[in-house]
Amino acid sequence: MNTSTTPSELREARAHWQAPIAFVPTMGALHQGHLSLIQQAREIVGEEGTVVVSIFVNPLQFDRPDDLKNYPRTLPEDLRYCQEEGVDHVFHPSSADFYLGDHSIQVLEKKLATHLCGASRTGHFDGVCTVVLKLFNLVQPSHALFGKKDYQQLAIIRRMVRDLSSPVEIIGIETHRESDGLALSSRNRNLTARDRADAPRLRKALLAAQNLAATGERQPARYLAAAQQQLAGAPVSFRLDYLELVSQDTLQPLSTLNERAVIAIAAFYGEVRLIDNIEIDAA
Ligand code: PAJ
Repeated sequence: MNTSTTPSELREARAHWQAPIAFVPTMGALHQGHLSLIQQAREIVGEEGTVVVSIFVNPLQFDRPDDLKNYPRTLPEDLRYCQEEGVDHVFHPSSADFYLGDHSIQVLEKKLATHLCGASRTGHFDGVCTVVLKLFNLVQPSHALFGKKDYQQLAIIRRMVRDLSSPVEIIGIETHRESDGLALSSRNRNLTARDRADAPRLRKALLAAQNLAATGERQPARYLAAAQQQLAGAPVSFRLDYLELVSQDTLQPLSTLNERAVIAIAAFYGEVRLIDNIEIDAA
């Protein structure tokens, strides 16, 4: 496995890579969810192809300074995981090596980011798009893999690639979960033991809502009420950020369920923000 820490080192390394190239961008603190993306990347390119992982805690996408400061950083362990998974190259730049001091260009997304995380985290997806496009330009992958756990992120990256004609195929991967249903997240390790025990509540709420689909229910409010009911007994450390039912296609709220939908949730346990989602097909 090779590594690089600056864009010029990465470019030099790239000259020796065999196509196809599958790319998994991450912010590190790798867990089994990330590893499932890496394993899928290897499946796509085969033994001859190249699997590239980036590890970069991107300051542009953080709206709360404390969240950026407390984001877990576990580089030695991450590199070990990548080595074990047979990753060919890991790019892990410092912020100063990645963004020039007078970096002044950003990618803006103006439709898909108006609800869900985009509404509660100002500028977040512009930061994500900017870093991902820059990484795509450096790595020049044929394929890039993203998790469905970050549903809005995946939709926005697909839209960016479509609208800006990036020559890369985007592949979405199912959410990897703990046995109690909690979606794996780098932030889970910052939960207190008590909050960790309660956190599967998010998944339970989404499943309770999804159960209604089998009855042919068309009223979004009923789905949201079913989920809300499961949130009622949460501890005082719990604070709902949003619970929304939106179109899978436009990520805008639906007045009736006449197309494929997704219910997305974000909630704080203390300072730790968790997200999850579930697809709803009431057809
Ligand atoms: P990060 O949160 O590290 O996630 C990296 C990738 O792993 C994302 O595509 C995310 O959706 C996926 N992922 C996280 N948890 C997962 C799980 N439980 N199951 C399956 N996939 C999971 O998302 C980011 O980093 C950043 O925004 C990034 C795209 C790297 C840009 O900075």
